[in-house]
Amino acid sequence: MAICISSMLQVPSPALSWSLFPEIPADNPARGDKLVERLGCRACHGSGVEHGHAGPELVAALSRLTPGELEIQLCTPRQRHPASRMPSFAFVRAEDFTALVEYLMNLK
Ligand code: HEC
Repeated sequence: MAICISSMLQVPSPALSWSLFPEIPADNPARGDKLVERLGCRACHGSGVEHGHAGPELVAALSRLTPGELEIQLCTPRQRHPASRMPSFAFVRAEDFTALVEYLMNLK
């Protein structure tokens, strides 16, 4: 189950009180794609074709990660990379978080 467990959080972060894109079913890849866009992943990670400006190319990075590692990277990036400049996405609602992780793991 892809959710940020509060005990893993370095900084308590209130969850959004609304879901993003609730009109799209969670298992539809279009929702994951919209979440990646809205959450700004591509600003640092590039479009999926080019390298990002501030982070590794997403598909290449994902191919090295298990779903559990991806969840930790999204909840508490500094748990995996102590000097990480990647923000935590622990504020995302569980339903969106699950849709995001499933979408990303299917990109590999
Ligand atoms: C402000 C820039 C920034 C944003 C926004 C950002 N990232 Fe990152 N991300 C990084 C950097 C820098 C790294 C390199 C490793 C680290 O420092 O944590 C990284 C690493 C990663 C990795 C690879 C981790 C590894 O160990 O190989 C994944 C997967 C990832 N990010 C996914 C995402 C997703 C999905 C989003 C959007 C929800 C996102 N990132 C948003 C900067 C960012």
